[in-house]
Amino acid sequence: MLTGPFKEIITMQGLPQRGPISDDQLHVIKNGAIVVERDKIREIGLFSDLIKRHKLEIEIDQPAVCLPGLIDAHTHICFAGNRCGDYTKRVSGKSYQQIASEGGGIMDSVRKTRAASQIDLEKGIISRAHELVRRGVTTCEVKSGYGLTIKDELKMLQAINDAASKVPLKLISTCLAAHIKPPEFIDEKSYLDHILVELLPKISSKRVDIFVEEGAFSKESAKHYLLEAKKMGFSLIVHADQFSRQGALLACEVTALSADHLEVSSEEDADALAKADVIPIVLPGASLGLGMQFAPARMLLDKNLAVVIASDWNPGSAPMGDLLCQAAIIGAYEKLSVAETFAAITERAAKALQVPDRGVLDVGMSADLAIFPCSDYREILYAQGMMKPFLVVIDGKLAR
Ligand code: NIG
Ligand code: FE
Repeated sequence: MLTGPFKEIITMQGLPQRGPISDDQLHVIKNGAIVVERDKIREIGLFSDLIKRHKLEIEIDQPAVCLPGLIDAHTHICFAGNRCGDYTKRVSGKSYQQIASEGGGIMDSVRKTRAASQIDLEKGIISRAHELVRRGVTTCEVKSGYGLTIKDELKMLQAINDAASKVPLKLISTCLAAHIKPPEFIDEKSYLDHILVELLPKISSKRVDIFVEEGAFSKESAKHYLLEAKKMGFSLIVHADQFSRQGALLACEVTALSADHLEVSSEEDADALAKADVIPIVLPGASLGLGMQFAPARMLLDKNLAVVIASDWNPGSAPMGDLLCQAAIIGAYEKLSVAETFAAITERAAKALQVPDRGVLDVGMSADLAIFPCSDYREILYAQGMMKPFLVVIDGKLAR
């Protein structure tokens, strides 16, 4: 299948693995085209060359720029209900933690999610997944974490798995049973031990996440939990440094795959992340949702880290769920080059999800494409998320 011509194809090939990227390092094919065979890219090059040898199947009859499909490496799109009540309290001045202590917060979503059926959770994921595809996302990570009993965490993970077989985009699940301690347990250690014994051996997900924060889990309990999970073969993710520091350093101590959030991280934390080779994932949607500062993405890049940007789509702190819009906004505040922002939602995000076949347009890679209605790649972030792709291809199939 030949698709083109594109005014520009931004391949994301050959970029530095870590640290700053300038726009002149972007590999741009002008007047390009892509040949797809089944779910993979077979050839990529000039339209004028490829049209001689292949039949044109998807003709792009308007000016278009092709990017790799976007990768959202951190979401919580499996949930029931909403938290608009929390929102109104927040905008009247109450803090996230104050609202949680008054019965809102994560526990409010837990109550609603426990009451929902697996089928209803699956329907919610499917509808949000279609929304993500419309916004150009072709791979999305989804966490559990609003069940907090063995039965309800399994229900969430099963809903994610079942939804994955019914949506065009590729879902990757993460077990976040260690989101907060449920009230049924007196101490956090006994809850974490319970999950280690009764839940982790039963799940097919390969990834385990924990929220390290005052009001969630302490660094000490989290360390034991993560090291045990690691022995069982899980990749480790930490919700780190959202309101107070500790989580990023813990992520380094246990050599986590990624440390996510990092709104209050310091240069010392960044140095430790760089030394331990932990991937920083910043979540501007949570900063926007809570009205707090962005993670120091510029500083993290300057410390030679491979910064990833994800949406954190969840009913509490980040209800928007628009990765491209949020990436453009944090880019404007943190002074990220277009290349750094694109890398953070494509090839660097692929590394954070350990999916090496995605995030770059090259021969042999997955045919996941986000195709935008413009002539110049700079127009995409300039529109701050308002420009949506008019075509999205996932595994070689038209998904939008
Ligand atoms: O990533 N920080 C903890 N967990 C989620 C929020 C979950 C919620 O408020 O429902 C986050 O922001
Ligand atoms: Fe999160």
